[in-house]
Amino acid sequence: MVQSDHNVTIALGCDHAGFQLKQEIARFLLNQGYQVIDRGTLSDKPCDYPDFAEPVARDVSSGNARFGVLICGTGIGMSIVANKFPGVRAALCSNEFSARYARMHNDANVLALGGRVVGVDLALSILRVFLETGFAGEKRGEKRHVRRLGKISKIERELKKK
Ligand code: RB5
Repeated sequence: MVQSDHNVTIALGCDHAGFQLKQEIARFLLNQGYQVIDRGTLSDKPCDYPDFAEPVARDVSSGNARFGVLICGTGIGMSIVANKFPGVRAALCSNEFSARYARMHNDANVLALGGRVVGVDLALSILRVFLETGFAGEKRGEKRHVRRLGKISKIERELKKK
């Protein structure tokens, strides 16, 4: 079971290809007691994934949301957009192993899913693992992961100067 946590806010976004799965995920998270910010899309009418990845990535980058979940057909477009934003570490996962290590080693804060790649049951299982797993740099004091994330932050700072 995912622990209910009323203090954790999760921003959701999808395009038309992720709409059905986003609805399932929103229902699941609300049932678990999470705060949900739904940034759309709100139907399966064709739309452009960057328009929905951007507000979710901004929520996570600014701290307005602790985590983001982004869903398009493959999850690839969503992860490309989200990873443009400072402090956002989006991980495209299609299995629980990737989700576990994305949290443990990369401190990923956005989960990207492919609505045409994973079914609802697998997607929810991946999401559960993502939310239940802590960053090993914090939980276990594994300094190498903190050092590696520090290098990503340094790249972000240097790019900002240009
Ligand atoms: C939409 O057809 C599809 O291209 C989009 O959902 C996504 O998979 C892009 O990365």
